[in-house]
Amino acid sequence: MPSSTFVMIYFDNNATTSLDPDVLEAMLPFLRENYGNPSSAYSFGKRVAQAVRHAREQLADLLGCEPSELIFTSCGTESDNSAIQSAIQLDPDRRHLVTSKVEHSAIAKHAETLARRGYEVTWLSVNSDGLIDLRELENGIRPDTAIVSLIWANNETGVLFPIEEAAAICRAKGTLFHTDAVQAVGKIPIDLQKSSIQFLSLSGHKLHAPKGVRALNVNPRTRFNPYLIGGGQENKKRGGTENTASIVGLGVAAELAGVHLSEENAQVRALRDTFEEGILKRIPNVQVNGHRTLRLPNTSNLAIEGIDSEGMLMLLDQKGICCSAGSACTAGSLEPSHVLRAMGCSTDRARGSLRFSFSRLNTQEEVRQALEIVPRLVEKLRAMSSGVLAA
Ligand SMILES: Cc1ncc(COP(=O)(O)O)c(C=O)c1O
Repeated sequence: MPSSTFVMIYFDNNATTSLDPDVLEAMLPFLRENYGNPSSAYSFGKRVAQAVRHAREQLADLLGCEPSELIFTSCGTESDNSAIQSAIQLDPDRRHLVTSKVEHSAIAKHAETLARRGYEVTWLSVNSDGLIDLRELENGIRPDTAIVSLIWANNETGVLFPIEEAAAICRAKGTLFHTDAVQAVGKIPIDLQKSSIQFLSLSGHKLHAPKGVRALNVNPRTRFNPYLIGGGQENKKRGGTENTASIVGLGVAAELAGVHLSEENAQVRALRDTFEEGILKRIPNVQVNGHRTLRLPNTSNLAIEGIDSEGMLMLLDQKGICCSAGSACTAGSLEPSHVLRAMGCSTDRARGSLRFSFSRLNTQEEVRQALEIVPRLVEKLRAMSSGVLAA
């Protein structure tokens, strides 16, 4: 177990991020004295409603949309599920969906469940860089397609799909389009005003807000059927008393993400590139999974020949380095990553791959320390698996 002097290096920011101290400060009054229900008629509640309104404006600013287009939800999975369910409930005759083979399970498992209930699903393939072919998308859309759902930034590789182009194709074909932008929001510029996207899901805890608060953007011209039916909260689009402190936190996190967006592209990319180049230089037989430029500035998914990622995660954990093998939601499963498999990686390559994901709260000093530790551990693991240490 780690000692009290144990220092953690957290390179798993696609799994979750630490709370920004300014976000926590903004939230605290809503966990203490401002506990009113924003739906209450008295001023104690109205003050909280005003704070929720402000958070909605802050998030809308980051996305370039109107505050009224945003529905606060409890998790990215709820946002993803809500968009798909709305599309199929409102047009029950359309029983076909299009998605990709590299979606997060919040979309993939939902689509598999719908397939078992008689829906047809077209799963778009990706090439070895992790990119879709827009012609395959265009050809895959049918008159009975209820919705197309594509991940914007892949949680495992960081690869960016051409979402604006995909949305434009769907609009031209008269098909609804949803993007799971959980990993993209706050890391790349997004301007929904200029876009053909009808639904966009995002998640607060990927951008230094707390867990338990996310949002779904619904284009004002798109009909929406609530997924959670109850009180008339969220403009009658999502029942349930608002998670007010976390919504306030998400608002501040969104504002900070806007302020730091260019930094994310410069400073965080520099951290990622220093780390990645350092690893490629120090360790033989390592390859980058995913397109080298069409990816998030913070993500590095590395295939390290001759290791198994589960063993490597344990060794890294002993040294205080956090990263992922596959996505956090499927960690623990021995199945090789479906994303890497869809990109044509062999089972061995997929099982030897690790995801390192950085944030603006990481430092070059952490990268320097990790570059000392990781190569030593890879050497140790390779020696163990080739039987040198066993002799
Ligand atoms: C791309 C993507 N979509 C959806 C989700 C699900 O979000 P949540 O865990 O908030 O439900 C995640 C979580 O990691 C994700 O990375």
